[in-house]
Amino acid sequence: MKIAFFDAKDYDLPAFARLGREQGIEFKFYETKLGEDTAGLAEGSDGVCVFVNDVVNAEVVEKLYRCGVRVIALRCAGYNNIDLAACFGKIHVVRVPAYSPHAVAEHTMALLLTSVRRIHKAYNRTREFNFSLSGLTGFDLYGKTAGVVGTGRIGCAFIDICRGFGMKVIAYDKFPREGAGIEYVSLGELFSRSDVISLHCPLSEDTYHLIDEAAIGKLKKGAIIVNTSRGALIDAEALLDGIKRRIVGAALLDVYEEESDLFFRDFSGHILEDDVLARLISMPNVIVTSHQAFLTEEALESIAETTVRNLVAFGRDEPLENELCYRCGKVEECRKSRRGKCF
Ligand code: NAI
Repeated sequence: MKIAFFDAKDYDLPAFARLGREQGIEFKFYETKLGEDTAGLAEGSDGVCVFVNDVVNAEVVEKLYRCGVRVIALRCAGYNNIDLAACFGKIHVVRVPAYSPHAVAEHTMALLLTSVRRIHKAYNRTREFNFSLSGLTGFDLYGKTAGVVGTGRIGCAFIDICRGFGMKVIAYDKFPREGAGIEYVSLGELFSRSDVISLHCPLSEDTYHLIDEAAIGKLKKGAIIVNTSRGALIDAEALLDGIKRRIVGAALLDVYEEESDLFFRDFSGHILEDDVLARLISMPNVIVTSHQAFLTEEALESIAETTVRNLVAFGRDEPLENELCYRCGKVEECRKSRRGKCF
């Protein structure tokens, strides 16, 4: 089986190359992202392997199909970049639904602790032998309220961590987990009661710009916003305005709406064209990491294992447990539960 692997990074190669060799899958690694201009590279491949910022819109799907591609293997959980309706009936789409929710939840808490205890500032100071504590006063997380949006795998792992710190937790989820011992509230109440708001829901039409000007207007003064989910959950200009008006106490971002042309690449020494991101980064109470929450050894190994397992199942015409289609979940329409494949 030949798989064109797009947006390949050095950290992807070891596990995928090894597991591919063991399972008879020939990965062809391309540094470039998948998009309308690069889809042709998949000519002669049985499938493509893609990541969060590859573009798989209807035009790309059509081009891939004409190249002979019959499977798209996402090496991530989120799939907002895939036009599933365009794929249906032509190309099967498989993903890695879970690898290490702990990797993302722990990174979320790492961002929060870094910010509230000013670790990023202290690190820079002590490297220059500046041992002054001036301006480094933080605050206790103990007793503060965390508002978690999305109580799936990552949201729940983050809730456990917050509870370990003695924080109160409230949550909002479109599909609350009955009997999980979580206090669910409306989104409006979550915005007005939380000291820390952490986003762990997928990006969809419902959640696009969930944090916008209106939401920021409801926040407790000084509230901290953490986003390790998807950039477009936040209207970045509204966030910037909320920071300037001293409403948002800190913004801790692992993701950014316009990240696709920036993140995962080295632009040091270049002039950043994105004024909103540049202004956000210039703020003393903003920390940006470039979509690295997933990046642990455990998560990388698990991502490669599940992706290769998905591809092997496809190659053997076995049921695809991690397949996605735009009808998934609608039992009467999606065939996966009956036939092991969505179409
Ligand atoms: P999950 O599927 O286990 O949980 C998602 C939760 O969001 C579910 O409880 C679902 O009911 C809820 N939800 C769905 N629609 C909602 C809405 N409109 N409003 C509120 N809640 C809603 O997903 P998981 O594994 O916890 O991942 C969450 C997100 O984290 C992913 O969608 C992905 O975007 C992001 N992610 C980010 C990574 C990073 O490296 N920064 C790595 C992995 C995932």
